[in-house]
Amino acid sequence: MEQIVALCRRRGFIFQSSEIYGGLQGFWDYGPLGAVLKRNVRDAWYQDMVGDHDELAVPEGAPRPYAMVPVETSIIMHPQVWKCVGHYDVFHDMMVDCKECKARFRADHVSTSECPLKPSKHPGEHDKCQLTEPREFNLMFKTIVGALAGEEGTAFLRPETAQGMFTNFKNVVDSSRVKVPFGIAQIGKSFRNEITPRNFTFRSREFEQMEIEFFCHPGESRAWYEYWRDRRHRWYVELGLAGDRLRLRDHDEDELSHYSVGTADVEYAFPFLDEGEFGELEGVAHRGDFDLRSHQEGKLVRKEGELVVETNAEGEPRHRGSGKDLSYFDDQARERFIPHVIEPSAGADRATLAFICEAYYEDEQPDEKGKLQKRTVMQFHPRLAPIKAAVFPLIKKEGMPERAMEVYRALKRARIAAYYDQQGAIGRRYRRQDEIGTPFCLTIDGETATDDSVTVRDRDSLKQDRVAIADIVDHVRERIDG
Ligand code: GAP
Repeated sequence: MEQIVALCRRRGFIFQSSEIYGGLQGFWDYGPLGAVLKRNVRDAWYQDMVGDHDELAVPEGAPRPYAMVPVETSIIMHPQVWKCVGHYDVFHDMMVDCKECKARFRADHVSTSECPLKPSKHPGEHDKCQLTEPREFNLMFKTIVGALAGEEGTAFLRPETAQGMFTNFKNVVDSSRVKVPFGIAQIGKSFRNEITPRNFTFRSREFEQMEIEFFCHPGESRAWYEYWRDRRHRWYVELGLAGDRLRLRDHDEDELSHYSVGTADVEYAFPFLDEGEFGELEGVAHRGDFDLRSHQEGKLVRKEGELVVETNAEGEPRHRGSGKDLSYFDDQARERFIPHVIEPSAGADRATLAFICEAYYEDEQPDEKGKLQKRTVMQFHPRLAPIKAAVFPLIKKEGMPERAMEVYRALKRARIAAYYDQQGAIGRRYRRQDEIGTPFCLTIDGETATDDSVTVRDRDSLKQDRVAIADIVDHVRERIDG
């Protein structure tokens, strides 16, 4: 993991936020290559789930055709949103303080390595020394809206993008002619004041989610849950997390969130975890009608197996809902119901980190003189690689740079992320590209002047093919799309 973190910094994938001031725990910046990599992850998700979705066809494994529409909703929402769906009361972790060094930990994450007093000054392990009793700590970041201080002006940075989609359910139905079943999708920042942010970007305080709320008839919800669970798992496999480091795991009953009647996680064995441990990449939850009902009626609690509105001592709803009718009328079946929801909720930063970890690979290859040299390769799927093709003139004369620039510009005009490099020995240029995961290197050499072709070198197989310059854009594009 240290080598991966070092490469991320060295080559401009991920930096600590505010690094020149010593950093801020739980916050990260994406550098020039990381920003493109993460955007490619988001774009792949958006294209595959929304943009390229064919709403007239029945997708493999789905009960019927469906529509997918995007929204982009605000980070700060009406505070009642969080009161009604429970985050205000129950979105917390248990924390403990070390009485000795004053460090604060999640009760289930106590560790000595994060002790601000170095081991020489700190006598014991945290789990053996003086810890306070566990206390609740709400994970929502508070902020003030407008000039009003105190309760009235208090609002929260959203801890999930999901609620922007539930509160707009009616708006979307009324404005876009979608019919149940359909999905609303959104990519956006979420914030959680994690007590112990850790493991590089895995647990951050500011992160990005890629969420879908899929609205369906209650009678079909089990089938849709299984469809989305399998589809979302397949998405990671198709983008390169194909080995046994990826798994799909159904939750046990006692792990289910307060709203859920079924959840599965897509998990990845990140290298910072112990052998055999997996970390969550995405949760696919069957949320039933919990959220729409909460926004309609008020905060719900489970009583004798039923979800009922929580009341105060006077018998009034403890957190009042919007009072708006959030049911759906199926005009063909002449039936009114509150749709059930399947929610595939992915983290863009965690997915990016998993793709980085999976891509990292070292081998040894002979250099120009036949000497074995260590090679670090990021084996990104070509769709995710920040640069798709690097273009090199073999030498800086005999018209080669001019031909190479022609090829570079043709790729750029075709919107293929290309990079031009004429510095250093060709082997060194290959290795620089291998380390950032560029799948194809195109070299203009002596033969180009006579046959108008270039050498295309494949990052993974190291195979070299001759391809006509006239065909190069189509050739690269076909290989990116697989
Ligand atoms: N709307 C449901 C929801 O937010 P979640 O399991 O709490 O569910 C969904 O979060 C995904 O968001 C996680 O699977 C993970 O990929 C990402 N995520 C959650 N907390 C995170 C954090 N502190 N840092 C980075 N990613 C996080």
